[in-house]
Amino acid sequence: MNIPFTKLDDQYNDCRSEIDKAINKILNTTEFVNGPIIKVFEQKWAKHCSAEGSAAVSNGTQALVLALRACGVRHGHQVITTPHTYVSTVEAIKSIGADPVFVDIDDYYHIDSDKIEEKISPKTKAILFVDLYGQTPDISRLKLISEKYNLKLIEDAAHSTGAEYNNKRVGGLVDLTCFSFNPIKNLGAIGDAGAVTGQQNLIDKVKILRDHGRIDHDNYVEIGYNARMDCIQASVLLEKIKFYLDWNNKKRIIASTYNNELKCVTPKIKKNCLHSFYAYVIQVPNRNLFRQHMMEKGIQTKIHYPTSINTHRPYFPFQQCVKSEWVCEQIVSLPCYYSMTQSEQSYVIQHINNWVRKYS
Ligand SMILES: Cc1ncc(COP(=O)(O)O)c(C=O)c1O
Repeated sequence: MNIPFTKLDDQYNDCRSEIDKAINKILNTTEFVNGPIIKVFEQKWAKHCSAEGSAAVSNGTQALVLALRACGVRHGHQVITTPHTYVSTVEAIKSIGADPVFVDIDDYYHIDSDKIEEKISPKTKAILFVDLYGQTPDISRLKLISEKYNLKLIEDAAHSTGAEYNNKRVGGLVDLTCFSFNPIKNLGAIGDAGAVTGQQNLIDKVKILRDHGRIDHDNYVEIGYNARMDCIQASVLLEKIKFYLDWNNKKRIIASTYNNELKCVTPKIKKNCLHSFYAYVIQVPNRNLFRQHMMEKGIQTKIHYPTSINTHRPYFPFQQCVKSEWVCEQIVSLPCYYSMTQSEQSYVIQHINNWVRKYS
């Protein structure tokens, strides 16, 4: 049996006619950039996330850059963050001349809230946390810390579109939340796209920065970027919004079967969180040999992420994060696409459990 890691054509197949129609409309109107559909998307996404405001941007990495800038983070400031993430989180901090201060992770693969306060200095301006794999950390606790030290709280929600914390959807819970809609995400565009949601005054700044720092056509008030979402992406996302929560539900059922049946270390799920399962991540003995074994059985796996970002030279001086560095050697992400059939999943489970029995 051949089990791919993901099936990118799933999302298109589920709403092909709606997407084709939406794209055609943009082609016919020729409103490719800054068209009225951008505002429609922004209003829809803000409402969907119960956020005060929303800005449509070019991708998730740029969403992070714009959010940090809008929060006043500048050269010489420090931003507290996690080393166990995709490079974009930390790259965004460095790219605006600020310095990442790494806090090691907890058992949920999140920034360890117990270790944040000891890393706060007079240069600290913000905490940038990540909803890794699709589950949020304890946001109430992070809010208490950020309020105590007067820091901005920014959420990297690239993995957690549609996820919830205490029955509230991600997007309106902290100062600013950054989304990625790249095609492999739970809600994927047909190219790069992203959004920032949150407090209206900060969103207004993001909108200025994403469009060359101007407040009208020839009036520049900031050094900005060309970081706008293009209209075709907005039109596709507006159609897919109607479907993706159902796709997330299906992923959650697959994840729950894995959790019940696998004999290895499975993800810890928090009772007050609705997980989006962007990635379903386990820990197995002899990880690299395991992946080879799975590949021989026709099962594709991935690693999110193979190295801890603090170990990479552009992010030196080196700040050790023992747990994050250790975890990167143990973890494997399993196929968890929403159209996965029961027989496909049973096949994956059988081969994992055989491996665990042999090596534990
Ligand atoms: C945790 C995290 N943050 C940010 C990003 C950046 O998103 P984009 O690829 O849209 O720039 C990603 C992308 O995969 C991600 O996984």
